[in-house]
Amino acid sequence: MKVTVVGAGAVGASCAEYIAIKNFASEVVVLDIKEGFAEGKAMDLMQTASLNGFDTKITGVTNDYSKTAGSDVAIITSGIPRKPGMTREELIGINAGIVKTVSSNLLEHSPNVILIVVSNPMDTMTYLVHKTTGLPKNRIIGMGGALDSARFKYRLAEALEAPISDVDGMVIGGHSDTGMVPLTAHATRNSIKVSEFLSEERLAQVSEDTKVGGATLTKLLGTSAWYAPGAAVSSMVQAIACDQKKMFPCSAFLEGEYGLNDICIGVPVLLGKNGIEKIVKIDLAEAEKAKMKESAEGVRKTNSLLTL
Ligand SMILES: NC(=O)c1ccc[n+]([C@@H]2O[C@H](COP(=O)([O-])OP(=O)(O)OC[C@H]3O[C@@H](n4cnc5c(N)ncnc54)[C@H](O)[C@@H]3O)[C@@H](O)[C@H]2O)c1
Repeated sequence: MKVTVVGAGAVGASCAEYIAIKNFASEVVVLDIKEGFAEGKAMDLMQTASLNGFDTKITGVTNDYSKTAGSDVAIITSGIPRKPGMTREELIGINAGIVKTVSSNLLEHSPNVILIVVSNPMDTMTYLVHKTTGLPKNRIIGMGGALDSARFKYRLAEALEAPISDVDGMVIGGHSDTGMVPLTAHATRNSIKVSEFLSEERLAQVSEDTKVGGATLTKLLGTSAWYAPGAAVSSMVQAIACDQKKMFPCSAFLEGEYGLNDICIGVPVLLGKNGIEKIVKIDLAEAEKAKMKESAEGVRKTNSLLTL
Protein backbone atom coordinates (compact mmCIF):
# COMPACT_ATOMS: atom_id res chain seq x y z
CA MET A 1 0.00 0.00 0.00
CA LYS A 2 1.19 3.48 -0.94
CA VAL A 3 0.03 6.37 1.21
CA THR A 4 0.50 10.08 0.56
CA VAL A 5 0.34 12.64 3.34
CA VAL A 6 -0.12 16.21 2.13
CA GLY A 7 1.21 18.69 4.69
CA ALA A 8 4.38 17.82 6.58
CA GLY A 9 3.41 19.96 9.57
CA ALA A 10 2.54 18.75 13.05
CA VAL A 11 -0.40 16.53 12.06
CA GLY A 12 1.01 15.32 8.73
CA ALA A 13 4.30 14.23 10.30
CA SER A 14 2.43 12.48 13.12
CA CYS A 15 0.28 10.61 10.56
CA ALA A 16 3.41 9.48 8.68
CA GLU A 17 5.11 8.42 11.91
CA TYR A 18 2.21 6.32 13.24
CA ILE A 19 1.56 4.74 9.84
CA ALA A 20 5.22 3.74 9.60
CA ILE A 21 5.41 2.45 13.17
CA LYS A 22 2.32 0.27 12.59
CA ASN A 23 4.23 -1.26 9.65
CA PHE A 24 1.30 -2.01 7.30
CA ALA A 25 2.23 0.34 4.41
CA SER A 26 5.11 -0.23 2.02
CA GLU A 27 5.53 3.45 1.19
CA VAL A 28 4.57 6.84 2.61
CA VAL A 29 5.15 9.99 0.55
CA VAL A 30 4.99 13.24 2.50
CA LEU A 31 4.40 16.37 0.41
CA ASP A 32 4.59 19.99 1.51
CA ILE A 33 4.64 23.31 -0.28
CA LYS A 34 7.45 24.63 1.93
CA GLU A 35 10.81 24.00 0.19
CA GLY A 36 12.72 21.09 1.76
CA PHE A 37 10.37 20.74 4.74
CA ALA A 38 8.83 17.37 3.79
CA GLU A 39 12.24 16.04 2.73
CA GLY A 40 13.59 16.95 6.17
CA LYS A 41 10.68 15.41 8.07
CA ALA A 42 10.89 12.22 5.97
CA MET A 43 14.65 11.89 6.54
CA ASP A 44 14.25 12.42 10.29
CA LEU A 45 11.46 9.80 10.42
CA MET A 46 13.49 7.31 8.33
CA GLN A 47 16.29 7.65 10.85
CA THR A 48 13.89 6.23 13.47
CA ALA A 49 13.23 3.10 11.35
CA SER A 50 16.05 0.97 12.77
CA LEU A 51 15.15 2.12 16.29
CA ASN A 52 11.40 1.63 15.99
CA GLY A 53 11.60 -1.48 13.81
CA PHE A 54 9.62 -0.54 10.71
CA ASP A 55 10.25 -1.17 7.03
CA THR A 56 7.92 1.45 5.56
CA LYS A 57 9.83 3.69 3.15
CA ILE A 58 9.12 7.37 3.84
CA THR A 59 10.06 9.98 1.25
CA GLY A 60 9.49 13.73 1.27
CA VAL A 61 8.79 15.99 -1.71
CA THR A 62 8.27 19.70 -2.24
CA ASN A 63 4.98 20.09 -4.12
CA ASP A 64 5.86 17.41 -6.72
CA TYR A 65 2.67 15.39 -7.18
CA SER A 66 4.27 13.05 -9.75
CA LYS A 67 5.98 11.37 -6.75
CA THR A 68 2.55 10.63 -5.23
CA ALA A 69 1.39 8.71 -8.34
CA GLY A 70 -0.43 5.45 -7.68
CA SER A 71 -1.29 6.23 -4.07
CA ASP A 72 -3.99 4.02 -2.57
CA VAL A 73 -4.81 6.46 0.23
CA ALA A 74 -4.01 10.18 0.56
CA ILE A 75 -4.41 12.25 3.71
CA ILE A 76 -4.99 15.99 3.40
CA THR A 77 -3.55 17.86 6.38
CA SER A 78 -2.36 20.93 4.46
CA GLY A 79 -3.65 24.24 5.72
CA ILE A 80 -3.44 26.44 8.76
CA PRO A 81 -4.28 25.21 12.26
CA ARG A 82 -6.17 27.30 14.81
CA LYS A 83 -4.52 29.48 17.41
CA PRO A 84 -5.85 29.83 20.98
CA GLY A 85 -9.31 31.40 21.03
CA MET A 86 -10.04 30.59 17.36
CA THR A 87 -12.79 28.28 16.16
CA ARG A 88 -12.18 25.70 13.45
CA GLU A 89 -14.73 27.54 11.30
CA GLU A 90 -12.51 30.64 11.15
CA LEU A 91 -9.97 28.68 9.08
CA ILE A 92 -12.30 28.24 6.12
CA GLY A 93 -11.08 31.13 3.94
CA ILE A 94 -7.49 29.93 3.58
CA ASN A 95 -8.03 26.19 3.92
CA ALA A 96 -10.80 25.85 1.32
CA GLY A 97 -8.49 27.09 -1.46
CA ILE A 98 -5.69 24.78 -0.33
CA VAL A 99 -7.89 21.68 0.03
CA LYS A 100 -9.51 22.21 -3.39
CA THR A 101 -6.14 22.51 -5.20
CA VAL A 102 -4.55 19.66 -3.26
CA SER A 103 -7.39 17.17 -3.91
CA SER A 104 -7.39 17.98 -7.62
CA ASN A 105 -3.58 17.52 -7.84
CA LEU A 106 -3.79 14.21 -5.97
CA LEU A 107 -6.47 12.82 -8.27
CA GLU A 108 -4.54 13.80 -11.38
CA HIS A 109 -1.78 11.35 -10.38
CA SER A 110 -3.79 8.77 -8.39
CA PRO A 111 -7.23 8.40 -9.98
CA ASN A 112 -8.20 5.50 -7.68
CA VAL A 113 -7.09 7.11 -4.43
CA ILE A 114 -9.19 7.14 -1.25
CA LEU A 115 -9.03 10.62 0.33
CA ILE A 116 -8.97 11.27 4.07
CA VAL A 117 -9.64 14.92 4.88
CA VAL A 118 -8.15 16.32 8.09
CA SER A 119 -7.84 20.08 7.43
CA ASN A 120 -10.36 22.19 9.30
CA PRO A 121 -13.20 23.03 9.33
CA MET A 122 -13.10 19.33 8.52
CA ASP A 123 -16.79 18.51 7.77
CA THR A 124 -16.98 21.47 5.40
CA MET A 125 -13.63 20.59 3.78
CA THR A 126 -14.90 17.02 3.27
CA TYR A 127 -18.08 18.41 1.68
CA LEU A 128 -15.94 20.68 -0.54
CA VAL A 129 -13.93 17.67 -1.75
CA HIS A 130 -17.19 15.82 -2.40
CA LYS A 131 -18.62 18.69 -4.43
CA THR A 132 -15.49 19.53 -6.42
CA THR A 133 -13.91 16.13 -7.24
CA GLY A 134 -16.96 14.09 -8.23
CA LEU A 135 -15.45 11.04 -6.49
CA PRO A 136 -17.82 8.33 -5.29
CA LYS A 137 -18.81 8.99 -1.70
CA ASN A 138 -17.11 5.87 -0.32
CA ARG A 139 -13.73 7.36 -1.30
CA ILE A 140 -14.04 10.64 0.63
CA ILE A 141 -13.67 10.30 4.39
CA GLY A 142 -13.38 13.08 6.96
CA MET A 143 -11.35 12.44 10.13
CA GLY A 144 -12.84 13.96 13.27
CA GLY A 145 -14.98 11.42 15.10
CA ALA A 146 -12.15 8.91 15.55
CA LEU A 147 -10.19 11.60 17.39
CA ASP A 148 -13.17 12.98 19.30
CA SER A 149 -14.09 9.43 20.41
CA ALA A 150 -10.53 8.83 21.65
CA ARG A 151 -10.83 12.04 23.66
CA PHE A 152 -14.24 10.92 24.95
CA LYS A 153 -12.77 7.60 26.12
CA TYR A 154 -9.91 9.44 27.81
CA ARG A 155 -12.38 11.64 29.72
CA LEU A 156 -14.65 8.68 30.55
CA ALA A 157 -11.73 6.66 31.93
CA GLU A 158 -10.66 9.68 33.98
CA ALA A 159 -14.15 10.06 35.48
CA LEU A 160 -14.50 6.33 36.11
CA GLU A 161 -10.94 6.03 37.44
CA ALA A 162 -10.68 3.08 35.07
CA PRO A 163 -8.09 1.99 32.52
CA ILE A 164 -8.95 3.35 29.06
CA SER A 165 -9.04 -0.22 27.70
CA ASP A 166 -12.08 -0.88 29.94
CA VAL A 167 -14.04 1.93 28.30
CA ASP A 168 -15.93 2.22 25.02
CA GLY A 169 -17.76 5.19 23.56
CA MET A 170 -18.33 7.16 20.40
CA VAL A 171 -18.76 10.77 19.33
CA ILE A 172 -20.80 11.56 16.23
CA GLY A 173 -21.95 14.85 14.68
CA GLY A 174 -19.91 17.79 13.45
CA HIS A 175 -16.25 18.14 14.38
CA SER A 176 -16.64 21.43 16.23
CA ASP A 177 -16.77 22.59 19.86
CA THR A 178 -20.55 22.95 19.67
CA GLY A 179 -21.35 20.28 17.06
CA MET A 180 -19.95 17.12 18.66
CA VAL A 181 -22.48 14.63 19.99
CA PRO A 182 -20.84 12.32 22.55
CA LEU A 183 -23.12 9.28 22.84
CA THR A 184 -23.10 9.06 26.64
CA ALA A 185 -26.17 6.83 26.78
CA HIS A 186 -24.34 4.21 24.66
CA ALA A 187 -20.96 4.45 26.42
CA THR A 188 -19.87 1.42 28.42
CA ARG A 189 -17.34 0.10 30.90
CA ASN A 190 -16.81 -3.63 30.26
CA SER A 191 -20.19 -3.68 28.48
CA ILE A 192 -22.00 -2.05 31.43
CA LYS A 193 -23.51 1.35 30.74
CA VAL A 194 -21.39 4.12 32.28
CA SER A 195 -24.56 5.67 33.69
CA GLU A 196 -24.44 2.81 36.24
CA PHE A 197 -21.23 4.33 37.64
CA LEU A 198 -21.44 8.06 36.92
CA SER A 199 -24.04 10.64 37.87
CA GLU A 200 -25.88 12.59 35.19
CA GLU A 201 -23.90 15.71 36.19
CA ARG A 202 -20.54 13.92 35.91
CA LEU A 203 -21.50 12.50 32.52
CA ALA A 204 -22.53 15.96 31.34
CA GLN A 205 -19.11 17.22 32.44
CA VAL A 206 -17.40 14.39 30.52
CA SER A 207 -19.35 15.46 27.41
CA GLU A 208 -18.39 19.10 27.81
CA ASP A 209 -14.70 18.26 28.40
CA THR A 210 -14.77 16.08 25.28
CA LYS A 211 -16.33 18.78 23.12
CA VAL A 212 -13.70 21.35 24.06
CA GLY A 213 -10.92 18.74 23.93
CA GLY A 214 -9.27 20.39 20.92
CA ALA A 215 -9.64 23.92 22.30
CA THR A 216 -8.16 22.85 25.66
CA LEU A 217 -5.06 21.55 23.91
CA THR A 218 -4.82 24.56 21.59
CA LYS A 219 -4.77 26.80 24.65
CA LEU A 220 -2.02 24.72 26.27
CA LEU A 221 0.09 24.22 23.15
CA GLY A 222 -0.46 27.51 21.31
CA THR A 223 -1.51 25.50 18.24
CA SER A 224 -3.72 22.47 17.67
CA ALA A 225 -2.83 18.95 18.74
CA TRP A 226 -1.05 16.36 16.59
CA TYR A 227 -0.33 13.07 18.41
CA ALA A 228 -3.93 11.90 18.79
CA PRO A 229 -4.97 13.25 15.35
CA GLY A 230 -2.07 11.33 13.75
CA ALA A 231 -2.90 8.18 15.70
CA ALA A 232 -6.58 8.44 14.70
CA VAL A 233 -5.72 8.83 11.01
CA SER A 234 -3.25 5.93 11.12
CA SER A 235 -5.91 3.61 12.61
CA MET A 236 -8.31 4.57 9.82
CA VAL A 237 -5.66 3.99 7.11
CA GLN A 238 -4.81 0.63 8.70
CA ALA A 239 -8.49 -0.38 8.58
CA ILE A 240 -8.49 0.42 4.85
CA ALA A 241 -5.10 -1.21 4.15
CA CYS A 242 -5.99 -4.41 6.02
CA ASP A 243 -9.66 -4.41 4.91
CA GLN A 244 -10.69 -4.62 8.55
CA LYS A 245 -14.31 -3.37 8.18
CA LYS A 246 -13.63 -1.61 11.47
CA MET A 247 -16.13 0.91 12.83
CA PHE A 248 -15.16 4.56 13.24
CA PRO A 249 -17.30 7.66 13.35
CA CYS A 250 -16.22 9.54 10.21
CA SER A 251 -17.50 12.49 8.24
CA ALA A 252 -19.39 10.90 5.34
CA PHE A 253 -21.68 12.25 2.64
CA LEU A 254 -25.24 11.47 3.69
CA GLU A 255 -28.22 10.74 1.48
CA GLY A 256 -31.03 10.30 3.95
CA GLU A 257 -29.13 8.50 6.70
CA TYR A 258 -29.90 9.98 10.13
CA GLY A 259 -32.58 12.06 8.41
CA LEU A 260 -29.90 14.19 6.70
CA ASN A 261 -29.18 14.96 3.06
CA ASP A 262 -26.43 16.73 1.10
CA ILE A 263 -24.06 17.12 4.04
CA CYS A 264 -20.81 15.55 5.31
CA ILE A 265 -20.97 14.95 9.05
CA GLY A 266 -19.76 12.40 11.58
CA VAL A 267 -21.65 9.09 11.62
CA PRO A 268 -20.49 5.53 12.38
CA VAL A 269 -19.07 3.84 9.29
CA LEU A 270 -17.21 0.63 8.50
CA LEU A 271 -13.80 1.22 6.91
CA GLY A 272 -12.34 -1.41 4.58
CA LYS A 273 -10.53 -1.71 1.27
CA ASN A 274 -13.13 0.41 -0.55
CA GLY A 275 -12.98 3.21 2.01
CA ILE A 276 -16.44 3.63 3.52
CA GLU A 277 -17.92 0.15 3.14
CA LYS A 278 -21.12 1.00 4.95
CA ILE A 279 -22.78 3.75 6.96
CA VAL A 280 -24.00 2.15 10.17
CA LYS A 281 -27.40 3.28 11.36
CA ILE A 282 -27.94 3.20 15.12
CA ASP A 283 -31.01 4.11 17.10
CA LEU A 284 -30.47 7.44 18.77
CA ALA A 285 -32.35 8.62 21.83
CA GLU A 286 -34.64 11.63 21.21
CA ALA A 287 -32.18 14.02 22.88
CA GLU A 288 -29.32 12.69 20.71
CA LYS A 289 -31.43 13.07 17.56
CA ALA A 290 -32.12 16.69 18.47
CA LYS A 291 -28.40 17.33 19.10
CA MET A 292 -27.54 15.73 15.76
CA LYS A 293 -30.05 17.98 13.99
CA GLU A 294 -28.61 21.06 15.68
CA SER A 295 -25.08 19.92 14.83
CA ALA A 296 -26.05 19.52 11.15
CA GLU A 297 -27.43 23.07 11.13
CA GLY A 298 -24.05 24.31 12.35
CA VAL A 299 -22.19 22.39 9.63
CA ARG A 300 -24.58 23.73 6.95
CA LYS A 301 -23.96 27.27 8.17
CA THR A 302 -20.21 26.78 7.60
CA ASN A 303 -20.84 25.03 4.24
CA SER A 304 -22.81 28.09 3.11
CA LEU A 305 -19.56 30.11 3.31
CA LEU A 306 -18.01 27.97 0.54
CA THR A 307 -17.82 29.22 -3.02
CA LEU A 308 -18.17 26.00 -5.00
N1 LIG B 1 -9.74 16.87 11.74
C1 LIG B 1 -9.08 16.88 12.89
O1 LIG B 1 -9.44 16.17 13.83
C2 LIG B 1 -7.86 17.77 13.05
C3 LIG B 1 -7.03 17.65 14.18
C4 LIG B 1 -5.91 18.47 14.28
C5 LIG B 1 -5.64 19.40 13.27
N2 LIG B 1 -6.49 19.51 12.22
C6 LIG B 1 -6.24 20.46 11.13
O2 LIG B 1 -5.19 19.95 10.32
C7 LIG B 1 -4.56 21.03 9.65
C8 LIG B 1 -3.05 20.94 9.84
O3 LIG B 1 -2.69 21.17 11.19
P1 LIG B 1 -1.15 21.19 11.62
O4 LIG B 1 -1.14 21.39 13.08
O5 LIG B 1 -0.43 20.04 11.02
O6 LIG B 1 -0.65 22.54 10.90
P2 LIG B 1 0.84 22.90 10.51
O7 LIG B 1 0.88 24.37 10.24
O8 LIG B 1 1.81 22.32 11.47
O9 LIG B 1 1.05 22.13 9.12
C9 LIG B 1 0.35 22.45 7.95
C10 LIG B 1 1.32 22.21 6.79
O10 LIG B 1 0.57 22.39 5.56
C11 LIG B 1 1.50 22.93 4.61
N3 LIG B 1 0.78 23.49 3.48
C12 LIG B 1 0.08 24.64 3.42
N4 LIG B 1 -0.43 24.81 2.19
C13 LIG B 1 -0.07 23.74 1.46
C14 LIG B 1 -0.31 23.31 0.12
N5 LIG B 1 -1.03 24.03 -0.71
N6 LIG B 1 0.22 22.15 -0.28
C15 LIG B 1 0.97 21.39 0.56
N7 LIG B 1 1.22 21.73 1.84
C16 LIG B 1 0.71 22.89 2.28
C17 LIG B 1 2.30 23.94 5.43
O11 LIG B 1 3.51 24.30 4.78
C18 LIG B 1 2.49 23.21 6.74
O12 LIG B 1 3.73 22.50 6.78
C19 LIG B 1 -5.20 22.30 10.23
O13 LIG B 1 -6.19 22.78 9.36
C20 LIG B 1 -5.79 21.83 11.53
O14 LIG B 1 -6.85 22.65 11.95
C21 LIG B 1 -7.58 18.72 12.10
